[in-house]
Amino acid sequence: MPVPFRSLGEFLARLEAQGDLVRISRPVSRDLEITEVTQRVLRADGPALLFERVPGAAMPVVTNLMGSLRRIALALDAERVDAVAERIARLVQLRPPAGLVGAVRDLSGTIDTLSTLRALAPRRVRSGPVQEVEEPTVDLDRLPILKCWPKDGGRTITFPVVVTADPETGATHAGIYRLQQYGPDTLGMHFQVHRVGASNYRKWAARGERMPVAAVIGADPATVFSGLAPVPEGVSNFAFAGFLRSEPVELVRARSVDLEVPAQAEIVLEGYVDPAERRIEGPFGDHTGYYSAPEPFPVFHVVRITHRERPVYLATVTGKPPTEDAVLGKAVERIFLPVVRLVLPEVVDLDLPEAGLFINVGIVAIRKSYPDHPRKVMHALWGLGQMMFVRYLIVVDADVDVHDLSEVLYRVGLQADPARDLELVQGPVDQLSISNPVPNLGGKVGIDATRKGPEDGFPRPWPEEIRSDAAAARAADEVIRADPVLARLLGRAER
Ligand SMILES: Cc1cc2nc3c(=O)[nH]c(=O)nc-3n(C[C@H](O)[C@H](O)[C@H](O)COP(=O)(O)O)c2cc1C
Repeated sequence: MPVPFRSLGEFLARLEAQGDLVRISRPVSRDLEITEVTQRVLRADGPALLFERVPGAAMPVVTNLMGSLRRIALALDAERVDAVAERIARLVQLRPPAGLVGAVRDLSGTIDTLSTLRALAPRRVRSGPVQEVEEPTVDLDRLPILKCWPKDGGRTITFPVVVTADPETGATHAGIYRLQQYGPDTLGMHFQVHRVGASNYRKWAARGERMPVAAVIGADPATVFSGLAPVPEGVSNFAFAGFLRSEPVELVRARSVDLEVPAQAEIVLEGYVDPAERRIEGPFGDHTGYYSAPEPFPVFHVVRITHRERPVYLATVTGKPPTEDAVLGKAVERIFLPVVRLVLPEVVDLDLPEAGLFINVGIVAIRKSYPDHPRKVMHALWGLGQMMFVRYLIVVDADVDVHDLSEVLYRVGLQADPARDLELVQGPVDQLSISNPVPNLGGKVGIDATRKGPEDGFPRPWPEEIRSDAAAARAADEVIRADPVLARLLGRAER
C-alpha cells in the first residue's frame, strides 16, 4: 500500500526527490512576480515551485503544487487520476457479491472498500504541528500573501481551506474561498452564494450570531483537493480527504474558536465573520480571465494565528486557463464521473472542456433509450450539485467520444436541429459568470445532438452512416503493407 502524504511537507519532500519541485533561491516579490514565474512554468507543464526568499515575508511560498495531472495523481496516492475515479466507483457501487464465485471475485474489492470506509472518520488528536507556534499578536503582513494581478484590489490568500460549521447540525465543512487582505487582521471572505460556506453563514446570520471560521493554509494535498472538490452536500470534506488518502485526517481543536482543523497543516487563521458587516472585495483576476467586479462580501476578523515551527505558505494563481485550478478542474471531472453515473447510469462519459472553464460547457454521452431521454439527462445534470452552472450542455450518443471536440461539433452541426433540439431554460448560474444581465441568474441551453428516430417522434427516416466494407478494408491493408512508402506513412497497415 502506498503511504499517504500526511502533510504538505511530506508531499514536497517526495516531489523534490522525484525532481518535480524546483527551489528558487533568488528573491522574488510576492507582488506580481511570483504570478509571472508560476504561470510560465505551469504552461510548460513544469514542476512545483518553492520560492525560498520572498522579501518582507517570514516563510517560503510554494506554488504550482497540483498544476499537473501527474502531481494531482501522486497527491491522491494514485498512478493516474482515473484510478481515483475507479476507487470512487467501487465505493459508490458497494453491494453484496452474488453467490460464492462472486464473493471470491469481489473479495479484494470488498476489502479495499472496507479499509476505505475505515479511513473516512477523521481522527481527533490533542495536539499537532500546526499549533507548534501561536503568534502573540495577529499580523497578516508577516505572511507572504500574494498580489496576483496588477488591478487586484489587494493581496489575496488564494488557496485557503476555509472551515465553517452548520449551527443547526454542527456538521463542519471545508471549502476553498479566496481571502483578500484589508489590514493586519481582516480579510474579505469571498464565498459565493451557492457555496456551503455561504449557506452556513446565512444560518448563523439568521440567528444574529457571529460565525466562527478557521482558514487553513497548506493542508496535506488530499485535504486541499477535498476543499475544492464538489463533495456532495452532507458528506464531510475531511471524511472525503480520508477516503482519498486511505487514512483518516487528523484534526485538532482550534485554540480560539469551536472548530477542528487539520493537525498536520502549516498555518491556521482563526476568527469570525460578523453577519452585520460587509465590505467591498475585489477586483480580483479570476479564473474567467477577467477581473471580478468589486462587490460587498463578509469580513473575516482573524483573532489568532497558529503555525508550524517552520511553515510553508501555499498559494495558487488564478487567471485565464491554463492555470493550476484548470488542471484541478480536469481531475475533478474525471474523479466525479462515478458520482454522476450513480445518479444517471445512462451516462457513459462526460467532458467539461477547460476552455469552457469547467462550468460553461459540458458534453455528455448517454445510452439513449426513450423519447426525449436527452432532455431528462439535461435537467438531471442541471439539478446535480455544481453541474447546475453548466450553461451549454451538449448530449451525444454513447459511441461519440466526448473528449474529441471536433467530433462533438460535427454531431452538433449535423444532428441537432436548432428549432427542435434546443432546451432553453433559466436558472442559477455561477456568480462569476459575466454575460448574464442579472448576477447569479441566467439562461442555459441543452443541445440534443443524438441521432433521431421514430421513437423520438422524428418524422423522416434517419439516414445510414457510411461504414467501410470489411473485405475491402482487409484488401486495403494488404495493398498498404506491401508498399514500403505507404506502409511507413500509415504506420500499421490497419484501418
Ligand atoms: C484555486 C481555487 C480558488 C477558488 N476560489 C473560490 C472563491 O474565492 N470563492 C468561491 O466561492 N469558490 C471558490 N472556489 C471554488 C470552490 O472551492 C468549490 O466550489 C468547492 O467545491 C467548494 O464548494 P462548496 O462550498 O459548495 O462545497 C475556488 C476553487 C479553486 C480551485
